[in-house]
Amino acid sequence: MMTLTTETPRIAVVYDRLRPEERMLFEAFEREKVPFDQLYAPHIAVDFSQDQSFSSYDVIIERCVSQTRGLELSRIFTAYGVTCINHPNVIETCGDKLATNAALAQWKVPAPRTGVAFESEAILSLCETFGYPIVMKPVVGSWGRMVSKLNDRDAVEAVLEHKETLGGPAHKILYIQEYVRKPGRDIRTFVVGDEVIAAIYRNSEHWITNTARGGSATNCPLYDELVEVTLGAAKAVGGGVVAVDLVESERGLLVVEVNHTMEFRNSVTTTGVDIPARVVQYAASLVVRT
Ligand SMILES: Nc1ncnc2c1ncn2[C@@H]1O[C@H](COP(=O)(O)OP(=O)(O)O)[C@@H](O)[C@H]1O
Ligand SMILES: [Mg+2]
Repeated sequence: MMTLTTETPRIAVVYDRLRPEERMLFEAFEREKVPFDQLYAPHIAVDFSQDQSFSSYDVIIERCVSQTRGLELSRIFTAYGVTCINHPNVIETCGDKLATNAALAQWKVPAPRTGVAFESEAILSLCETFGYPIVMKPVVGSWGRMVSKLNDRDAVEAVLEHKETLGGPAHKILYIQEYVRKPGRDIRTFVVGDEVIAAIYRNSEHWITNTARGGSATNCPLYDELVEVTLGAAKAVGGGVVAVDLVESERGLLVVEVNHTMEFRNSVTTTGVDIPARVVQYAASLVVRT
């Protein structure tokens, strides 16, 4: 790791809510003896005709819970010449499951068979082609919310009607996936820069394994295919600090999604890897010395 020679912080963390992850990051900065500042996102006001105090940072780690705010801030910081973790293009791609699938397809990274349409009849006929059950999800979302397994056409029609009646613009994009039969668990890998630093199994009786939904984490030792597919996915979305969700299928590992603001509160003890310290070291390595 680079030794910082000045006490003036060259790195900041921008956040809107202090979750365990943000506190763990702050503690890691202290432990690593890397000076840093905290920026509270709701207090930021930007006038593009003026210089901004945040432009003095070399690196800003973006940790907003609000995805829209995080994306806009990353755009702003990048415009002022600051290296933002993550780059706005990465946030944009990861924040939209369809954009992620487009990137994965372009880079030939294996993923569950995925389809999209923009009106009911079109998606219903795509469902027939895929065969049931199918998984339908909003293209923007997290923590397993509104991820649905639909066993037949009746179920799809019911969800489509709900989407039409209740849904906002994001629900006009109709996104489906083959249902991957997997062994009671998924895998989540953690990527920092060019390296896969750790992985966990997310075990659950339920087919949705998000820890936010009660899935439990155990360590997953890294192996060649896991590292290769993970790095392929990270590269496809533009790299940085990301967490990749994968499922184990009969055709090998498939990438379900890439998360741009990774949660790791349950994964440090589980894996024995100091994930926040690795993020701090990575940020420090991007500091430009003059
Ligand atoms: N096509 C699929 N086949 C089987 N399980 C899936 C599929 N898609 C999602 N899941 C399960 O649902 C969880 C949530 O889906 P995901 O696409 O990651 O959405 P979210 O952004 O809400 O986490 C996944 O971690 C996985 O356990
Ligand atoms: Mg997920």
